[in-house]
Amino acid sequence: MSDLDVRETVLITGASSGIGAALAHCFAADGADLILAARRRIELEQVAAGVREAFDVRVEVIPVDLSKTEGPAELCQAIAAMQLNVDVLVNNAGFGILGQFAESKRSLQMAMIAVNVAALTELTHRLLPDMLQRGRGGILNVSSVAAFPPGPLMAVYYASKAYVQSFSDALRYELRETPLTVSSLAPGPVASEFASRSGIGSLGVFDRNSLPPEVVAAAGYRGFRRGKRNITPGIFNRWGTLATRWLPRMTSAKIVAKIQGRKLE
Ligand SMILES: NC(=O)c1ccc[n+]([C@@H]2O[C@H](COP(=O)([O-])OP(=O)(O)OC[C@H]3O[C@@H](n4cnc5c(N)ncnc54)[C@H](OP(=O)(O)O)[C@@H]3O)[C@@H](O)[C@H]2O)c1
Repeated sequence: MSDLDVRETVLITGASSGIGAALAHCFAADGADLILAARRRIELEQVAAGVREAFDVRVEVIPVDLSKTEGPAELCQAIAAMQLNVDVLVNNAGFGILGQFAESKRSLQMAMIAVNVAALTELTHRLLPDMLQRGRGGILNVSSVAAFPPGPLMAVYYASKAYVQSFSDALRYELRETPLTVSSLAPGPVASEFASRSGIGSLGVFDRNSLPPEVVAAAGYRGFRRGKRNITPGIFNRWGTLATRWLPRMTSAKIVAKIQGRKLE
């Protein structure tokens, strides 16, 4: 059996809810085996059970805290112990916090950088050499429309997503002559637990403009399979992203501060 006959294995971080859980269904629908990672074991098991019921694929769950320095290494060791190779890495785990930076909890800001930036980078660095050696698969990084403007009142979150976007684009260029695909999925508001966890969910504006995680995941999956560089679901989100390219940075900052300020009221 050649390597290409072996079923694809996809690692999805942050698969216990929202976009990650929805992406699990998208990949499984096309016959990929899955490794689902996040902190909450019960929720991961529920997602895994739903996928197994719907599709004839192997699904493993690995509970891991990616805010811990040793989290990415532990995840990769657990995958190796299962004798699995990761063909596609979906770096989706992430969270944000609404509020003034100076008044925020330092441990939470640092944990955000650990999950959104450090773990994403380390997992990519650990898994990429094998992907290159096998010559197939790729990386789908979940960025955000927040990657493009500065984000007063969610300063670290926006900055973390700017990193994800820049890192993804640079990696895509470095890997352009390989069979690997690197894409970023940059959603606007999504109706997931993110809203309540970050503190932005109470605002009607967020609710009214949210897309269901299933819609966002389907667009991300389709875009990744087609080899798109960046996938931003929703015409208004695409326009918004385009506008931030032309506006002066401080004008963008002012607009974002106004929107986020209303969420704080
Ligand atoms: N919702 C939005 O409006 C929106 C917009 C643009 C981009 N995004 C991005 O989309 C991605 C998915 O978010 P979502 O909207 O689907 O929200 P969500 O339902 O809250 O999902 C976040 C996922 O990340 C996991 N996670 C958080 N902290 C973790 C940690 N320390 N270790 C391991 N896993 C951790 C969570 O699992 P556990 O709690 O079980 O660990 C959960 O599975 C995030 O990167 C987010 O920044 C969201």
